[in-house]
Amino acid sequence: MSPSPSDAGGPGDGPILVVDFGAQYAQLIARRVREAHVYSEIVPHTASAADLVARRPAGIILSGGPKSVNETPAPTIDPNVYEAGIPILGICYGAQLLTQQLGGEVARTGRGEYGRTPLTVTGTSPLFVDWPGTGEVWMSHGDAITTVPEGFVATATSPDAPVAALHDAERAIYGVQFHPEVVHTERGRDLLERFLYDVCHCPPSWTHTSIIESQVEAVRAQVGPSPVLCALSGGVDSAVAAALVHKAIGDQLTCVYVDTGLMRAHESEQVEETFRRQFHIDLVHVKAADRFFEALAGVTDPETKRKIIGELFIRIFEEVARDLVMEEFDPDADRTAASPGPDEPSGYLVQGTLYPDVIESGSDSAATIKSHHNVGGLPDDLAFDLVEPLRLLFKDEVRAVGEELGLPHDIVWRQPFPGPGLAVRIVGEVTPERAEILRAADAIVVEEIRRAGLYRDLWQSFAVLPAVRTVGVMGDGRTYAYPVVIRAVTSDDAMTADWARLPYDLLERLASRIINEVEGVNRVALDITSKPPGTIEWE
Ligand code: XMP
Repeated sequence: MSPSPSDAGGPGDGPILVVDFGAQYAQLIARRVREAHVYSEIVPHTASAADLVARRPAGIILSGGPKSVNETPAPTIDPNVYEAGIPILGICYGAQLLTQQLGGEVARTGRGEYGRTPLTVTGTSPLFVDWPGTGEVWMSHGDAITTVPEGFVATATSPDAPVAALHDAERAIYGVQFHPEVVHTERGRDLLERFLYDVCHCPPSWTHTSIIESQVEAVRAQVGPSPVLCALSGGVDSAVAAALVHKAIGDQLTCVYVDTGLMRAHESEQVEETFRRQFHIDLVHVKAADRFFEALAGVTDPETKRKIIGELFIRIFEEVARDLVMEEFDPDADRTAASPGPDEPSGYLVQGTLYPDVIESGSDSAATIKSHHNVGGLPDDLAFDLVEPLRLLFKDEVRAVGEELGLPHDIVWRQPFPGPGLAVRIVGEVTPERAEILRAADAIVVEEIRRAGLYRDLWQSFAVLPAVRTVGVMGDGRTYAYPVVIRAVTSDDAMTADWARLPYDLLERLASRIINEVEGVNRVALDITSKPPGTIEWE
């Protein structure tokens, strides 16, 4: 897609490459580098030195890893990279690896260090400018560097890491045993900035404005005068992608919003308000609730529900797309005539793919279409090419870009919402009445969580409608109505999650408002299951 900074010419003016050794550290390091306004990309440790050098990196960071360098097999890197004249910083596993590969020693000392650890600076280093003699850093290691390679000096130590930092200034190769990317490391950010600005000589030019400018140019160059479609889901990724593409090509963009009847309260109005009225984007709002409820009538199996919703969504999107695309190419075209052949691109489709999806798909050239709401499985004869203006960005960058583009706070900071919508939170049959009950209860949960100032701290917070009814008493009469379950979780990435310890007074307010305000509900329960073993959604 875009000409990324790595395409730029000149020695060493490309990105900072963060080498991934199979732990979570690489993404955090790459984000920290970008927070210092320097563009970074993650590369697998299996890349050859020639591949790395071909990217013209300004510097290379070897990240932490889950293994010990003394295990076999342990992930390594092509040692020719040390001879390429590119500044290198090894962090934790990365520091041990470069030590071992360059002839030093890493030993299993029997005593590791985990968590906050005091660090004593013992030598001068361009990474420790103005550091106090001692400070606190975050450690996570079992092995320790015991002998530095030839040409290196040790510059810091900690109780169980005789060499907690080392470098060879001549070759610009640096290593630290601790994790500067973790907030608990005092001056960790400063250390990374010294490496980026002083050792690699990177200018701090990767800003949200520069991201927008480069993506606007890239989208224009990619699509030319062709029509472009974007499916809006109400979520942050598709919203930011649409706003960015609209900035690039204006009226060439048509957005399609399919109201499935399974959206959150006020979601449709907000999409209308933002995209049609604020951004003046050509928006096709398909009101398809009846079709979805009809297709879901009598269905209770979770997977069948998801499948029905996914397929119907695609069918509707396809109907709209076919009409729009054919109109764009030839306004007088006979709509019943054959559509363009499979090799004939009939337009572009915007996808809100983010950088973590690109990394996980294992190749930065993979054009995977995310499941369901991002419109998977469009028929071949529509032959869309993908426009992915967010594929280089992390979620926090997407939000910052969204704010800079003027999207409302509510959309930019919205909690994730599953593609099949409320259906996966309605256990049993999905009917208009049951969707309405859940939507009303969910709106109260969101409102009260926001009012308590917790909305951004929680990964997700919502209501669930089980398929049972329970007996209650209200006023003079007995009731036989649904319970509503409150689900609120904290998480970093949805792979694991913990149930949120909501304050009792908030829970009480939620229960009393839901029971008093939502007809058909007479009981409120709290889900205290973490993931695993539970999932975040109920279906
Ligand atoms: P689970 O329930 O598997 O969900 O713990 C993990 C995260 O994924 C979201 N989710 C979905 N998102 N389409 C989506 O776009 C889906 O079909 C879907 N199902 C679950 C869920 O909300 C949570 O954030």
